[in-house]
Amino acid sequence: MRANASAGSKRPISSEPRGSVTVVVLAAGRGVRMNSRIPKVLHPVAGRPMLLWAMAAARALDPERTLVVTNPAQDGVQAALNGQGQAVPQARQLGTGHALSQVTGAHRTSGPVVVLNADTPLLRGETLKTLLAAHRKSGAAVTLLTANLDDPHGYGRIVRGRNGVFREIVEEKDATDEQRAIAEVNSGVYVFSGRELWPALLKLENKNRAGEYYLTDVVRLIKGKVETVRVEDGDEILGINDRRQLAQAERVMRQRVLDALMVGGVTITDPATTFIDADVAIGQDTVVHPFTTITGASVVGEDCVIGPMTQVRESTIGDGSRIERSHLEKAKVGSKVTVGPFSRLRPGTELADEVHIGTHTEIKNSRIGTGSAVPHFSYLGDAVVGANVNIGAGSITANWDGFQKNVTEIDDRAYISCDTIFVAPVRVGSDAATAADTVVTKDVPAGSLAIGRPEMKIVEGYTARRRARHKAVAKK
Ligand code: UD1
Ligand code: CA
Repeated sequence: MRANASAGSKRPISSEPRGSVTVVVLAAGRGVRMNSRIPKVLHPVAGRPMLLWAMAAARALDPERTLVVTNPAQDGVQAALNGQGQAVPQARQLGTGHALSQVTGAHRTSGPVVVLNADTPLLRGETLKTLLAAHRKSGAAVTLLTANLDDPHGYGRIVRGRNGVFREIVEEKDATDEQRAIAEVNSGVYVFSGRELWPALLKLENKNRAGEYYLTDVVRLIKGKVETVRVEDGDEILGINDRRQLAQAERVMRQRVLDALMVGGVTITDPATTFIDADVAIGQDTVVHPFTTITGASVVGEDCVIGPMTQVRESTIGDGSRIERSHLEKAKVGSKVTVGPFSRLRPGTELADEVHIGTHTEIKNSRIGTGSAVPHFSYLGDAVVGANVNIGAGSITANWDGFQKNVTEIDDRAYISCDTIFVAPVRVGSDAATAADTVVTKDVPAGSLAIGRPEMKIVEGYTARRRARHKAVAKK
């Protein structure tokens, strides 16, 4: 199969204000080595798809435009971009050079064209800025970002001549044993001069082991000087081709996230067992204890104590709250709230300030008012609980009648004794009470008591008779 690497517009280079930057993010690859049904660039690192890490790095350059080369057959990529950048479709994945050549017409600008791979999530925006500044200063046709790696396996190697002069990039597959021993690798991040780039792309061929149009060959074909900038921190250029590298990136990114939180005034007692996504915000003087995971766009206030052994997903927690050994998902927790140990707040739970949720309690799609307490083993589903309500141990809402969910309303200052069951839909008025072991099947008016248990009987002399019977049987 022979395809034209430079398919698309051969129009002259579009003219634009001098120096305006175009970024092209290459994101269309098949990601075969991930062995996944999910597009590689959507695999998350610290909770954020790796493509979005590349987009964030690109933003540091304040570019005129950001183009994203995507595979139209890959679901979800457009949705993840959510309006960031302009998609450039690459229908067939014929290599990185072919990917860049899909940029057409007015987008073929003469100023700096920054190209980066979408599978390099650890690349810093600052590094891109340094690279662009070096490129502008030297007036090179292309400036490459390189790094020295302890294990350069899989990367294109930077081949230099005598005096260290750059010669070419050789891909792993095409390299000799001698070249494979080179530690300096190509990061896949380049700044091209648009004026030289687009004509050079037309000359690309796919005569290599992979039969692909290599962007790395442009460096050989381009007219003008090739400059290189070596990044100090080799982690930054880690390219994710398989899931082992994904785990490596996760580890590095996790440490970066934790470092930023600690510098920002959050105590992480044991970073080795604490997992926090990049999009989580945590306030000053909050302490996160070991074996805790906080993910999604969760927000935790100031002066909180979270953990140990706690999971917080997509939830918000106000100031001064304490969550111990519990699971929260899509929950909203106010200030000075205590939860746990061993409780579960499911989606739609809203706890007002100063609520106390104790042990082994599950709450789903319910609002609990200020100062109310659910201290011991209860289930509240689809409940609306007012302020200063006390829910006794073992109380449960029977919210599901086998066909639909029904609401339980418990108004301000109601006093719910242990083991009350609410057969929803039902309402308990303000200042009402229930006796222990009551099954509430009809509304309880404000200020009244609902008592619904069988009357207790006393059987006198019972224990003595029982013991005597036992003795008589044992003698036989
Ligand atoms: C590439 C470089 C290699 C460099 C390494 C750095 C080439 C030929 N090789 O190798 O020198 O050391 O990155 O990580 O460029 N993509 C497309 N369309 C395609 C093929 C790839 O958009 O047809 C995208 C991928 O989604 C990916 C990026 O380009 O984000 C790089 O492709 P990949 O196949 O991972 O290249 P490497 O083998 O890692
Ligand atoms: Ca790669």
